[in-house]
Amino acid sequence: MASSTLFLFFSSLFIFTSLLYVSEADYSAPIVKGLSWDYHHKTCHKVEKIVRKHLKKVFKDDIGQAAGLLRLHFHDCFVQGCDGSVLLDGSHGGPSEQTAPPNQSLRKQAFDIIEDLRNLVHRECGRVVSCADIVALAARDAVHLSGGPHYDVPLGRKDGLTFATQNATLDNLPAPTSNASTILSALATKNLTPTDVVALSGGHTIGVSHCSSFTTRLYPTQDPTMDKTFAHGLKEVCPTNTTNATTVMDIYSPIKFDNKYYVDLINRQGLFTSDQDLYTHEETKPIVESFAHDEKLFFEKFVKAMIKMGQMEVLTGEKGEIRAHCSIRNNDNKGYFSFLAEEEDQYYVESKDELR
Ligand code: HEM
Repeated sequence: MASSTLFLFFSSLFIFTSLLYVSEADYSAPIVKGLSWDYHHKTCHKVEKIVRKHLKKVFKDDIGQAAGLLRLHFHDCFVQGCDGSVLLDGSHGGPSEQTAPPNQSLRKQAFDIIEDLRNLVHRECGRVVSCADIVALAARDAVHLSGGPHYDVPLGRKDGLTFATQNATLDNLPAPTSNASTILSALATKNLTPTDVVALSGGHTIGVSHCSSFTTRLYPTQDPTMDKTFAHGLKEVCPTNTTNATTVMDIYSPIKFDNKYYVDLINRQGLFTSDQDLYTHEETKPIVESFAHDEKLFFEKFVKAMIKMGQMEVLTGEKGEIRAHCSIRNNDNKGYFSFLAEEEDQYYVESKDELR
């Protein structure tokens, strides 16, 4: 009797938790041709486990790295699509996308973590998962392991063969000094709605910023839309407009992925103009309010927007390649390939054609 009650208890718990999981996974989200939810099922079914396990370890030491990985995915997708081009080193073709001003403040460790993950995944499965897919999975886990929603990621992206120019990088990544109208129209060209814009900006619920990204709001005159006590605190961290220090972006709960970023905006404690103005603009203000009052709604819209962002201009099928090293395109990587061919032949080399 006792054991059957126990069985019923555990089986209903199991059903409940699986329902919870399924309701969080939005398989109804529109998906780009060439990507699929189970893309790596046959060739690398452990990929998501490998990524999750490694990131748990990384975040245990430093949860700040989660923010770096989330931002890396955003910077990858907005410039030339989610093709891992931000990971490429510069070449004779010119300075890389990575060195363009908006990318200079990406965390160096984020690049190392992605390369470590690629190494772990390729060791287990061979060269079948792209760096761009790994970036998307790492961003997803960064959100979830910081307290945010879990969601499934459409997979099957290929890595790009080129990086964007410095100008293209600057043109595609909005400046923190932009107002909401500028952000809305810039992101509309990427097919993102005002709800997507407000939800994605919620990525600023974790992480830090350098003074240089917001000191124009403090000096020479203080932005009147900024809460005075908040401004006072920022001036202590950044006493001049050339101070090189960092401060948290969500003063309320800086390492937790939650909806408090929107509460900050209502309290006029948003760090950038691009954040704070979302609470001034008449189209986005009600969305900010709804997310501040309803975290579940924020999570739902954030997941939708991330899935959309994660599929921007992706390369699939025959387009692009699966890099053997995230910072180097395969054509420039012959030395590394001959080493692999000798060491672990069939696992690492998908097709001889790709080695040309
Ligand atoms: C809408 C336009 C956006 C602007 C203007 C913007 C701007 C910025 C700036 C200036 C920083 C600080 C850089 C520094 O000084 O160190 C930053 C950090 C960050 N951004 Fe954004 N961002 C935007 C959208 C997004 C999106 C869509 C996401 C992700 C969904 C995101 C996630 C982050 C994260 C997590 C950090 C902290 C990074 C860290 O701690 O290393 N941002 N952003």
